[in-house]
Amino acid sequence: MTTQRKILITSALPYANGPIHLGHLVEYIQTDIWARFQKMRGHECYYVCADDAHGTPIMLRARQDGISPEQLIADVSRDHQADFSDFFIDFDNYHSTHSDENRDLSQSIYRTLRDDGHISTRTISQAYDPEANMFLPDRFIKGTCPKCGVEDQYGDNCEACGATYDTTDLKDPYSVVSGATPIKKDTEHYFFKLADFETMLKEWTTSGHVQSEIANKLKEWFDSGLRDWDISRDAPYWGFEIPDTTDKFFYVWLDAPIGYMASFKNLCDKTDLNFDEFWKSEGTELYHFIGKDIAYFHTLFWPAVLQGAGYRTPTNVFCHGFLTVDGAKMSKSRGTFIKARTYLDNLKPEYLRYYYAAKLSSGVDDIDLNLEDFQQRVNTDLVGKFVNIASRVASFIKKNNNGQLSSTLPAPELHQKMIDAGEQIAQHFENRKYSQATREIMALADKANEYIADKEPWAKNKQEGKEQEVHDICTQGINMFRILCIYLKPVLPEVIKQAEAFLNCGELSWTDLNKPLLNHSINKFKPLMQRVEKEALDKIVESSKEDIKTAPQKALSNKHSNVKNEPIADEIEFDDFAKIDLRIARIVKAEHVEKADKLLQLTLDIGDETRNVFAGIKSAYKPEDLEGKLTVMVANLKPRKMRFGMSEGMVLAAGPGGKDLWILNPDEGAKPGMKVK
Ligand code: MSP
Ligand code: ZN
Repeated sequence: MTTQRKILITSALPYANGPIHLGHLVEYIQTDIWARFQKMRGHECYYVCADDAHGTPIMLRARQDGISPEQLIADVSRDHQADFSDFFIDFDNYHSTHSDENRDLSQSIYRTLRDDGHISTRTISQAYDPEANMFLPDRFIKGTCPKCGVEDQYGDNCEACGATYDTTDLKDPYSVVSGATPIKKDTEHYFFKLADFETMLKEWTTSGHVQSEIANKLKEWFDSGLRDWDISRDAPYWGFEIPDTTDKFFYVWLDAPIGYMASFKNLCDKTDLNFDEFWKSEGTELYHFIGKDIAYFHTLFWPAVLQGAGYRTPTNVFCHGFLTVDGAKMSKSRGTFIKARTYLDNLKPEYLRYYYAAKLSSGVDDIDLNLEDFQQRVNTDLVGKFVNIASRVASFIKKNNNGQLSSTLPAPELHQKMIDAGEQIAQHFENRKYSQATREIMALADKANEYIADKEPWAKNKQEGKEQEVHDICTQGINMFRILCIYLKPVLPEVIKQAEAFLNCGELSWTDLNKPLLNHSINKFKPLMQRVEKEALDKIVESSKEDIKTAPQKALSNKHSNVKNEPIADEIEFDDFAKIDLRIARIVKAEHVEKADKLLQLTLDIGDETRNVFAGIKSAYKPEDLEGKLTVMVANLKPRKMRFGMSEGMVLAAGPGGKDLWILNPDEGAKPGMKVK
């Protein structure tokens, strides 16, 4: 084997304001397989990550939840780490960008850049929320699409008609934070002078440190000129203060990649690892795995910052594509925006690890999780091919030979062939061509199965005088299975751990290929994997749909979400309250009312009678979504004649109006007609 390498590997740091989903996992699974592979090859390798804990979204999210940002990021970090660990993502360290190590490193890197003249300041004019007293990032401004006129569209593109435009083009813009109309305000910002590093970047990006697709993209970026990078944000901001300023903070993307260093520093301080050996010397290797959406940060800003601050640049930045599910962008309404936890509640993590491995290449193409294909691939390859080898032969060894393997391999050439394939498979793993690696591993599994099928140990086992032959065939089978275990170990760590227990062979490593188990006793075989059933997949999709129904609020995404509640009305006597007769009602019918903009006509069952009610909830509900639901109505309101007919009561709804209106929807346990007290 080649000499021992020293390798530091990172995955992008997930934002601390949302759960891990199957899209993220493409990256963490891809990286984890690589790190495990490098370790199995005997290299000294560390895989570190952290939560990306700063920035406006996290600040506002904490506010909205009524907790401190510290509390929010602690909660989210715990959830992230539980998800990762349950997917067997084996970090050597998991830290946070909101840490002492990261503050020290960020500030010292900044000081070096500044003292060497790579930071400039100038005044810019920015959108400002005069009510919330804060500057607004583009994504916190919404308004009416200048093209099609649909309301509540984000700063730079319209979800309704697909138009793209500048935030300043929005009609009736409003701040998502307070609902106020943004104004323009001058503010001084700090900039990193990226163009100072043009020569270095051109050299770095064209000498094998990025994939060819990215290098091409970079050419476009170079051609359009390297612009100064705005690295400061005004208070209030959740992040680190910029040294020698009072109210300026580092933009989250300045300290985020430094979080890679901080996490490793934190690991060094817990062990006797040498930080500088990995960050100042080129004798070690440094790899970042990232998604294609953040290539700009990692292939321009990041190497320039590192170089400018006196650190080494990355050996390589490995970029992957985006996950689609059933051929489309993950979608909450289709139930394909699947959280890591929702998956884990229904299926074993290694099915997904295998499926991603079977799909991943070294390029930046998107990868599709087709649920039917997923089920079929896992069942065919893992259960039908791989596990099947062991399950076909293990019982004979147990019953006939008391678990003892024989002393010879009857087909040594076949065994050797499987070993010889190892270098090629290793090359595929090394080059992140996991789909090719799995394809070749499964071709070997086919060979092993063919061998067993051909030799028919089950038939020979019934024949007189064939005991030794059966013993040898099964021993061959077990040894071929063992080789496949080595190849699959980076992908299926837990299953292979169980296989190691079955084989009674200790921890398998790549160097063990050539050490067949002979005259060796193995343990009882327990099925290593079950088939994926369609029901489990249906459940995942179903509960992912439910996730949005029970989502706590649509807040931060619409005009009025953070508008202050109306003031409490004048006090009333208890008797006044007691006059209102509230009843549970089932909406048996809901219909549009011709020519009415706001009204839906509801037929309400309140036990002994039905009522006809016109409710101004058309902006928030589709009739078909209401039918069958329970709600609460004022049953003794004097009937009112309206333009469209008689309204015999009112349903209760909450919210400021428009899309943000929720009818009260009691538990199914309630029965129509029940009095609400
Ligand atoms: N916090 C930044 C990264 C900072 S790194 C110094 C960030 N976070 S993220 O949570 O949005 O994404 C984390 C990683 O997951 C990114 O590499 C991103 O590309 C990847 N993915 C997020 N959604 C994805 C898919 N749907 N598909 C594949 N990868 C995806 O970006
Ligand atoms: Zn539009």
